[in-house]
Amino acid sequence: MIALSLAEIASVVGGQTYDIPDPSVRITGPVVRDSREVEPGSLFVAFVGERVDGHDFAVQVVEQGAAAVLASRPVGVPAIVVDDVQAALGALARHVVQRLGATLVALTGSAGKTSTKDLIAQVLQRKAPTVFTPGSLNNEIGLPLTALSATGDTKFLVLEMGARGIGHIRYLAELTPPKIGLVLNVGTAHIGEFGGREQIAQAKGELVEGLPEDGAAILNADDPLVRAMASRTKARVLLFGESGEADVRAENVRLTESGQPAFRLHTPSGASDVTMRLYGEHHVSNALAAAAVAHELGMSADEIAVALSEAGSLSRWRMEVTERPDGVTVVNDAYNANPESMRAALRALAAMGGASRARGGRTWAVLGKMAELGDEALAEHDAVGRLAVRLNVSKLVAVGGREASWLQLGAYNEGSWGEESVHVSDAQAAVDLLRNELRPGDVVLVKASRSVGLERVALALLDGGAEGEVSAR
Ligand SMILES: Nc1ncnc2c1ncn2[C@@H]1O[C@H](COP(=O)(O)OP(=O)(O)OP(=O)(O)O)[C@@H](O)[C@H]1O
Ligand SMILES: [Mg+2]
Repeated sequence: MIALSLAEIASVVGGQTYDIPDPSVRITGPVVRDSREVEPGSLFVAFVGERVDGHDFAVQVVEQGAAAVLASRPVGVPAIVVDDVQAALGALARHVVQRLGATLVALTGSAGKTSTKDLIAQVLQRKAPTVFTPGSLNNEIGLPLTALSATGDTKFLVLEMGARGIGHIRYLAELTPPKIGLVLNVGTAHIGEFGGREQIAQAKGELVEGLPEDGAAILNADDPLVRAMASRTKARVLLFGESGEADVRAENVRLTESGQPAFRLHTPSGASDVTMRLYGEHHVSNALAAAAVAHELGMSADEIAVALSEAGSLSRWRMEVTERPDGVTVVNDAYNANPESMRAALRALAAMGGASRARGGRTWAVLGKMAELGDEALAEHDAVGRLAVRLNVSKLVAVGGREASWLQLGAYNEGSWGEESVHVSDAQAAVDLLRNELRPGDVVLVKASRSVGLERVALALLDGGAEGEVSAR
């Protein structure tokens, strides 16, 4: 954080100081909510959670070197006390980003926020110091904490914004007003909570409504609900996508035989070839979005193409490809799933399988339920099961309850009889089956919604050893 004194912070958040002998002391360490992350000079933010009360750690964090605690009651050590800690944290973030010299880039969408944010960061870092959301900390607490980790040297601040309802993105965008706002897609994630795609579009589009006139709204030309957000902003609009009308677009998109996308990148300043290290064609859209941001910030097509081609996966369990010593390849995409990413992952599996089939290998899709699909759940699971058969995936292992049976039934109805598709009750059963069946050259994709925790299957296959058990979550 830029070094503010405790007196300044108290005034910004409208708090009262307690047990602070010297209010001119500055915060020189990170602002954190987890006592394990406290460093000398930190500001510790005490939240009252369901199981843990941060105030109970106040004495300990000050012993660890924290300069003060932002709290909702006096704690016997230096503290700035406010009524609402979350609001105070937000106010502090807003104050600090106004004083930073950094350009703020914010992005939202139904799927691919973290993957795209990691791509943007890896591209922009080549140009100037960049601070970005770690992992997926995209809510009203993670966002201000990330913003507060920027320093006077930071040139680009890249923030992921998540929403579970109307007004959430507006709130976040007011805390840290972006100059560049990117909307990736409007899918079906959390559709149950939102009520429908139109409502999701309404919520995601709040990001571009607050952009300044000299800012840029970067919108997905291939997604009609995103494209339509152009009418909701006074900022300049830049379109990305495979559509011919996109300002930043991809031509000649293909998957290499290892399942990695390759394409020719066109930006208003030139064209250049990209072959990604990431797996799955859904990353083409993510890469184009990142390219549009980088173009907007002055990078050339060649610079962007090199950065995209070298970018790796910074966040875990997203198409994480590992080859075991015995020649079985495990693709762990168990972080999350929605219909769009299920299809992309299956197509990547099919591409990877093309190479392994020549060596006698088979492709396995170990899939679990896609959550929060509302009324579309049955049809979407059925369609994914059918797609697995159409793509000629060798074996579908559907894991879990009702939704898994829909996956398996879809495959069955599409023409996969007998052992080509099976339904097992849980992760342990899937691991037991796979341990017996897998042989060198096989490629196994593991994917389901976060709540299924299907990474346990991938992890057990990778390091469980012969006797490995699925570990509890
Ligand atoms: N452009 C895309 N379209 C559809 N699915 C995608 C896209 N990019 C990534 N995915 C898939 O969506 C899942 C989540 O990816 P990622 O973590 O990048 O998204 P997110 O929007 O940050 O999710 P969250 O809402 O959990 O923060 C992954 O399984 C990935 O395969
Ligand atoms: Mg995320």
